[in-house]
Amino acid sequence: MELLEQFRARYPFPLDDFQLEAIRAIEGGQSVIVSAPTGAGKTLVAEFAIHMALATGKRIAYTTPLKALSNQKFNDFTRAFGAETVGILTGDVKVNPHGRVLVMTTEILRNALYGSGLDDLGYIVLDECHYMGDEARGTVWEEIIVNAPTDVLLVGLSATVANVKEIADWISIVHRPIVPIFHPHRPVPLSYAVADLAGEIHEIAEVRAGRARLVGGEPRGPDDRGRWYTRRVVDPGVLIDGLETRGWLPAIYFIFSRVGCERATDDVLAEGKSLLTAAQQSDVDHAINELIHDSPTVAESLLNQTVFQALRLGVGLHHAGILPSLKRLIELLFERGLCRVVFATETMSLGIHMPARSVVLQGLTKRTDRGFRSLSHNELTQMAGRAGRRGIDPEGKCVIALDARDGVEDLLRVVDGSPEPIESQFKLGYGSAALLLGTGAPPEALRRRIESSFGQYQNLKRIRELEAEVRTLEAALAEIKRYEAPCGDFQRIGRYRRARQEAEARRQALGRGGRRGERTVAEAETGRLARPAQGRAGPRADPRRPLDPRPSCAHRRAPAPRRRRPREERGRQADLLGHAALLRAARPGTRRPRAAPSRRRARAAVRPGAPGT
Ligand SMILES: Nc1ncnc2c1ncn2[C@@H]1O[C@H](COP(=O)(O)OP(=O)(O)OP(=O)(O)O)[C@@H](O)[C@H]1O
Ligand SMILES: [Mg+2]
Repeated sequence: MELLEQFRARYPFPLDDFQLEAIRAIEGGQSVIVSAPTGAGKTLVAEFAIHMALATGKRIAYTTPLKALSNQKFNDFTRAFGAETVGILTGDVKVNPHGRVLVMTTEILRNALYGSGLDDLGYIVLDECHYMGDEARGTVWEEIIVNAPTDVLLVGLSATVANVKEIADWISIVHRPIVPIFHPHRPVPLSYAVADLAGEIHEIAEVRAGRARLVGGEPRGPDDRGRWYTRRVVDPGVLIDGLETRGWLPAIYFIFSRVGCERATDDVLAEGKSLLTAAQQSDVDHAINELIHDSPTVAESLLNQTVFQALRLGVGLHHAGILPSLKRLIELLFERGLCRVVFATETMSLGIHMPARSVVLQGLTKRTDRGFRSLSHNELTQMAGRAGRRGIDPEGKCVIALDARDGVEDLLRVVDGSPEPIESQFKLGYGSAALLLGTGAPPEALRRRIESSFGQYQNLKRIRELEAEVRTLEAALAEIKRYEAPCGDFQRIGRYRRARQEAEARRQALGRGGRRGERTVAEAETGRLARPAQGRAGPRADPRRPLDPRPSCAHRRAPAPRRRRPREERGRQADLLGHAALLRAARPGTRRPRAAPSRRRARAAVRPGAPGT
């Protein structure tokens, strides 16, 4: 209890219920997996695990999927727990590798667990563990969970996913019992809007109701030279003006490619409009000069010079190709309100703490290893979740810049979707196979480890569900077979129903005439009476002709006798026909229908100069 109170005292705000629930479970020696929206405060749960590890003389490994995120966490934890306590291990940096709090990328921990592991390891934090569903890298998370020593507690931190309970069930089998904590509520409410090609911003409710007139929202094909859409989405400069007018800055402007981000920065530079006051501009200059002073080579690259110019206008650029020290500068300027818009790729949506008033998504189509595809709902919320600063903004705004390729239906489908479940992407690559063999474990043990994957668990679950369904159907069939139908056996009833369906389909195909009662041999059932056609002139009435074997006539209704209309009614119809004929004659070149005898009479009455000619 004392530990929890000490921990609470570190924060100026009261802890949320889901945080307390997770903390109590960790304190009680249980693993936890927390699924909560972006910016909900999941790091705090991991910070409690760090607190516990330090208090009990254990080590803690804090893993993230990205080097940039690892760097940020390393800086944060160093400030909070001291430089001697915290170390970092990524592909690029290695600082204090014997620290009790070791921040690392997931791959580094995976490799360590295949080897001799980490001394005194008491806790593993898997930040952004919904990455387990990532096609290319998801396997690594599964490998860590399967290979982690069972006396180590796991702390999984995930964005909102639909099947956190399923993941917890699997971990409880292959590792140790884990408490799932699902907290779907955002700390700051979020609303969506759509920006059309002209830069007009429409509330999503208007778009959903079809009341918004979206310029460029209608899908277009290739132009007459076969080129696909020359301009598909609003200019960033135009949209930024719109955001500024509405007071929706600072904003993170997500563009799904580095080139796209750089092009947008160039456009803003070409326009030259500054989002900063003169005083703010001088603060930015000061921060840039400090960075150049610390590492003069930074100023040499052309890209960095462009970034500096853009920063002076209040615009940043953040993607994997930007120097880490420059990215850090942009993050700091953003936090201080000196960077009003940052063009960023999707990776910035992961964990990096840069809350904004609004988020812009340039289109909903992203490029993957397998070509272009639409964003999933989870990916959308991960990015949109950056909008809305806790304690500052009453509401976050996510503006989707409508790309003509997407179409409004696609947009609404992604926005209105619900969280998707994580699907295992487990596949054993050569690297993992080599590491597994390198452990020297007997083949059965290796096989057991491979078969412990989440993928295998999900497959087995599906097989069991299918088996249960087969059993239910078999039981139902056995029950039906017990039932003796009074009107014949089931096979025969089945044949009858199929024949009925076929006959009905044929009748539909024949149209109105086919419905009049003609029946075919296919419809004949043993024991039904058939009456040949009679009483008609024509070949059927020929006594030398064999009888038509079709049984259909038994059901044909005799035609009703024609009623002769009264004289005055007949006269009225003749008048009408005559009038129609007059009109036709008045229009030269009108095609004449084949005249019925009565119409012919009417036409004879037409004389030049008569009314209506
Ligand atoms: N109970 C709380 N009350 C108010 N603010 C909080 C609370 N818990 C955390 N915060 C603050 O919320 C912000 C976001 O927290 P954090 O980075 O942990 O979010 P997260 O859930 O990890 O998001 P992401 O999915 O982006 O990683 C931090 O500034 C943190 O200090
Ligand atoms: Mg986080």
